[in-house]
Amino acid sequence: MTREELKAAAVSMLDRAYCPYSHFPVGAALECSDGTVYTGCNIENAAFSPTLCAERTAVAKAVSEGHTDFVRIAVAGRSDDFCVPCAVCRQVLREFAPEIEVICLNSRGEELALPLSALLPHSFGPEFLSHDPA
Ligand code: THU
Repeated sequence: MTREELKAAAVSMLDRAYCPYSHFPVGAALECSDGTVYTGCNIENAAFSPTLCAERTAVAKAVSEGHTDFVRIAVAGRSDDFCVPCAVCRQVLREFAPEIEVICLNSRGEELALPLSALLPHSFGPEFLSHDPA
């Protein structure tokens, strides 16, 4: 899938967003190293806290299908602002792909692309748990 196709896949997920509370749709398209793409949308909940962001929906779909080797993710919103991932989504992406390219889109289709390490510097990851604490 080309970069433009990945971005279009994220934009197309805006129509699937379930966001009756915020009215802020988000779409995501997550590309794996073998080219497989998993899409996601935000899924809100009346109890608010259980809300799933679009990025984490895509990650859950990918991991549950056996894919953890991620190379880029496109995130789309309908705002003038670039749709940057929230801190929780940054941390979830960091677990699997510390250097994943994050392509943030605005409503005009313009992009802000950054490596995750720029969005989440000095991050905590699985390797921290493999050190002997003694
Ligand atoms: N949202 C996402 O889907 N991804 C983000 O990284 C930021 C926030 C969603 C959650 C909620 O449904 C709506 O946007 C407003 O916060």
